[in-house]
Amino acid sequence: MKNQNYYITTPIYYPSGQPHMGHAYSSIIADVFARFKRIDNSNVYFLTGTDEHGLKIQKAAEKASMDPLSYCNKISMVFRNLTKKLDLSNNDFIRTTEDRHYKSVNDLWNKLIKSGDIYLSKYKGWYSVSDEAYYNSDEIIEKDGIKFSSFSGSTVEWVEEESFFFRLSSWEKKLLDFYKKNDKFILPLSRRNEVINFVKSGLKDLSVSRTSFTWGIKVPDNNKHVIYVWLDALTNYLSALNYPDVKNKMYKNFWPASLHVIGKDILRFHAIYWPAFLLAAKIEPPKRIFSHGWILSGDEKMSKSKGNILNPLEIIDNYGIDELRYYLMKEVPHGSDGSISLKNLENCINSDLANNYGNLCQRIFSFIKNNCKNKVTKNNTKSKNDSNLLDKTKILMKNLRVEMDNQNLNNYIKSVIDISFLTNKYINDEEPWKLKNTNLEKMNNILHVCLKQIAMISILLNPIIPRATSKVLDALNIEKKSRNFSFLDGEEIIPDNIEVNNLDILFKKIQK
Ligand code: ME8
Ligand code: MG
Repeated sequence: MKNQNYYITTPIYYPSGQPHMGHAYSSIIADVFARFKRIDNSNVYFLTGTDEHGLKIQKAAEKASMDPLSYCNKISMVFRNLTKKLDLSNNDFIRTTEDRHYKSVNDLWNKLIKSGDIYLSKYKGWYSVSDEAYYNSDEIIEKDGIKFSSFSGSTVEWVEEESFFFRLSSWEKKLLDFYKKNDKFILPLSRRNEVINFVKSGLKDLSVSRTSFTWGIKVPDNNKHVIYVWLDALTNYLSALNYPDVKNKMYKNFWPASLHVIGKDILRFHAIYWPAFLLAAKIEPPKRIFSHGWILSGDEKMSKSKGNILNPLEIIDNYGIDELRYYLMKEVPHGSDGSISLKNLENCINSDLANNYGNLCQRIFSFIKNNCKNKVTKNNTKSKNDSNLLDKTKILMKNLRVEMDNQNLNNYIKSVIDISFLTNKYINDEEPWKLKNTNLEKMNNILHVCLKQIAMISILLNPIIPRATSKVLDALNIEKKSRNFSFLDGEEIIPDNIEVNNLDILFKKIQK
């Protein structure tokens, strides 16, 4: 189990507008898994970035009266800055306008030509610039004379042009076999079923080049065509590992990717096109696609065009980044849509962070400061309540790795916060303050139990709220290299004699 390599990615975002809560959400999910795997002894490579080619970006640049590259330079920087604001622990930030990416896309294209999977013909059909996606006629609806994709709700236009095609139709059976063999390739399972049904309903060959605009990677040996932006974009996951140099360490260590975190809007591209391209090029497909749901505002998808956006930067300034991270991970249901609001955010901060975990740390650290000169010694007495708490904690911790490995963050967090709740209750029941003058030995023991609980909870919550938990772990004098999950395997986490430092307030309760 030690030192496994783990490669995790976010979608690379279109710099066609400012980043919003949906982008923040995907990135934070990926960051939580990356941090979790790192402290659970994996060797993690975490990638994010921007997707800069295609008609959508060309049009956005025109609208801003800028050339596409200068435009991308500017907005990509905003996304890069957001990674810092969100406390992302990414190892790399890729842009599809970089040299390393051109090399990689060229190579993949040439492999698909060589294998006979790409041929030249003519495309006639519907295209959505906003989704950069082709739609079948049966996926189009008309309202007030305007045509939309019934799948995404975006407007579509009719396109007729010379185009290279990828023989997607010939991969139908092989994809179905692949899903069958890899039954957790797509999570959650409801999404897996969606994909399988779509593939079973029949796949048409996919247009993979365009000739009516120029902003993209040119088809090798045919400069009239630019490569379809999705074939270009998906390849970013390989480019970051220095593909096509398949002998280099990065590629050898990290391909196939362990996990692509994406939203459900781009599931088809990742779960159908991407493995088909890779299988055709004789490259192993990624191990898993986790497709989360929408962040909603009221009942609607939060999106630029609807103007119902909660700005992550404003929320971070007003409430704090740990607070935002915790709220999104805890309250948006696993794999399905979830509506968010400031009211719920405030309730969540108060109930879980201020009153529960924050209060647990605060009350114990200040008690130890005021009554024990910051020193606590464990001894061998063990009460019924001690055993009871330890047993219940063990049960709650039992499935944590499995929950994480299935991307089930809600269950994970709920179990951890329950441990915190139980520990607060234990303190209320044990009333260590009553023992100050009567039984110091027992009081020390109770405090030691609490410190151990706090240490475990803090490490477990560290991937989600890295700032606050790091303060606590610092105050517990737990070394960085010991901040891992070995206690899940029964190892002691704090010494019998422990000296702590003072701890400042972690979460302010929001007054309403
Ligand atoms: O699709 N709720 O980029 P994009 C949850 N460049 N997640 C949301 C969201 C919402 N309301 N809105 C956006 C692209 N997202 C391509 C990806 S990958 C090779 C290329 C998140 O800027 C979610 O992860 O439109 C979604 O899949 C992604 O942003 C789309 O970002
Ligand atoms: Mg989009």
